[in-house]
Amino acid sequence: MADKFLIDKAKTVLNQNFQKKGFTIPSKNLYPFQWKWDSGFIAIGFAHFDMEKAKKEINSLLNAQWKNGFIPHIVFHTKNDSYFPGADFHKSSLHPQSPAHIDTSGITQPPVLGFVLEKLYNIADDKEDVLNFLKNQIDKVYKNHKYFYSKRDINNEGLVYIYHNWESGTDNSPVWDDIWKTMNPPRYKFERKDTTHVDYSQRPTDREYDHYIDIIELAKKFNYDDHKIAKHSPFLVQDPLFNSILIRSNESLIKLYKILGGNEEKIKYLKSKNEKSLTSINEKLYNSSIGAYSHFDLRNKKNIPLICSSSFSPLFCGAPDFKKAQRLKNTLVEKFGKEDYYLCSSFDPEGIQHDQKKYWRGPVWINLNWILYQGFKRYKFKETAKRIKNDSLELVDKFGFYEYFNPSKENSKKNNKGYGGENFSWSAALTIDFLHEK
Ligand code: GLC
Repeated sequence: MADKFLIDKAKTVLNQNFQKKGFTIPSKNLYPFQWKWDSGFIAIGFAHFDMEKAKKEINSLLNAQWKNGFIPHIVFHTKNDSYFPGADFHKSSLHPQSPAHIDTSGITQPPVLGFVLEKLYNIADDKEDVLNFLKNQIDKVYKNHKYFYSKRDINNEGLVYIYHNWESGTDNSPVWDDIWKTMNPPRYKFERKDTTHVDYSQRPTDREYDHYIDIIELAKKFNYDDHKIAKHSPFLVQDPLFNSILIRSNESLIKLYKILGGNEEKIKYLKSKNEKSLTSINEKLYNSSIGAYSHFDLRNKKNIPLICSSSFSPLFCGAPDFKKAQRLKNTLVEKFGKEDYYLCSSFDPEGIQHDQKKYWRGPVWINLNWILYQGFKRYKFKETAKRIKNDSLELVDKFGFYEYFNPSKENSKKNNKGYGGENFSWSAALTIDFLHEK
């Protein structure tokens, strides 16, 4: 399909998912609210053809920021009972610093906004207009980074924790399987809505949901108090993806503050935190025995030596030296890059837990591909970068803007479609960005 035609189709998806209240849903029916990292990717897509909508997207998300700097993973702008768990379950009002004017969740998602603001600036024709916008928004993002470093870096090592698998964005990754074994949640009574829209075989199991719900019940019991959550949550993980995104966003905030001028203290703070983060991500999360970065289970004090697409994300923030980067590339190509496979499967295709259909246990996701593409490009691994980009474009072109895709070329062809939500916003948004990249 010609680029122009694909771009037009992607624009239509974004425009149709854009809501009157100034935010964009990830996908009709399945995800009827605003999601944090989705919004960031969506804003990048809009920035190429409708900067006003890109700005609105960021505005509406930041409008739900908590007074302590926390940005929630879902903002419930409207009432809608087609999603579980909704506003009544999350009960953000339990936290004294949550906003009174809007309901949100009490968990977060990867801190994409820093690098998204930089992308908006780079894409904009009218730099002055975007600088004015940035002037009003950037401190909110800075405050969010301060929140992470002051509340979620409990060992003061420059690595922040996530306390829920939904915070990682990679919801049901096999990386969490051993943590679930340390818990024994009750069988909660709830009515899942996702499986009325998408086949059960492509979604997490009910028993997995019991664990997801149980952690939120615990956080609610503590009124979402960070300190108590850090002390008691059975799930407390340092995630290479989450931390790489934080580092990459630090880098962007520093650049933007320099352009804006007069922000020396903030630049100093970000630089010192960033240095520590870069050192620790290499020292603690790089795992030479598997040739990739991996997650650290803070609660059980052990490394989780599994390889997933997040394992390569430190390339995005420039963490590895050239030798490590080379090793990452080899691991990716050898394990994930077999000829009959699209890059990049969300979980090690050689791992026993790999499942081609099930969400974050194997399928290819366009947002992770975009992050890895930027990472390999940063290290000038042109061939690998090009393959990730081409595979992403081939998938959306052949099958549509799905939420995720079967990594096997043969099985994708057999199905002749992707999985999960259709007309999925970030798949469309990042296609637009891919097609504008030189
Ligand atoms: C799923 C994904 C998550 C995403 C959300 C909305 O929960 O795992 O990463 O933000 O859907 O699209």
